[in-house]
Amino acid sequence: MEEGDSLGLISEELLSLFNQKIALEVYNSQVYIKIYNYLSNIGLDKIANFFKKQSMGEIDHRNKFIEYVNERNCAIEILPVNSVEDTFNTLKNIAQLYVDREISTTAFIKSMAFNAFENEDLISYNFLMIMINEQQEEENLALSFQDMISNVGDNPNCWQIFNNTFSLG
Ligand SMILES: [Fe+2]
Ligand SMILES: [Fe+2]
Repeated sequence: MEEGDSLGLISEELLSLFNQKIALEVYNSQVYIKIYNYLSNIGLDKIANFFKKQSMGEIDHRNKFIEYVNERNCAIEILPVNSVEDTFNTLKNIAQLYVDREISTTAFIKSMAFNAFENEDLISYNFLMIMINEQQEEENLALSFQDMISNVGDNPNCWQIFNNTFSLG
């Protein structure tokens, strides 16, 4: 960007990352709603509801990315969202999946922020840094959940008792 240029549009490359990010937030939301469904069906309602809340939080993130693209007068593209594999059957699996999702989400936003900075799109950079700050809380929450689960272990007999006193976030 030359001195005196207006802010202009988001670069094509960064816009493509925004479109992928929007789809990834929807994917996160689908993962968490699938966990909600699984936990509800085995009677772990309190933990299930925590994941329902996380699922809705991911839609809020999606909306923030879209609102930012709107502010910059660019058009989003709706990309297909990956289906969610049914790979979890213990609270430990779920905790790991949750932590992995949040860490990879942070990594993706970080790569977007680097791209924005390298291309001197400081407005996008600023927005992305705000989103990275939010990720700090998201990661901490996931790690707290994982810590709690590591105390419960893999014995389903302990899950119900854990569920009954569960409170987080
Ligand atoms: Fe998110
Ligand atoms: Fe998240």
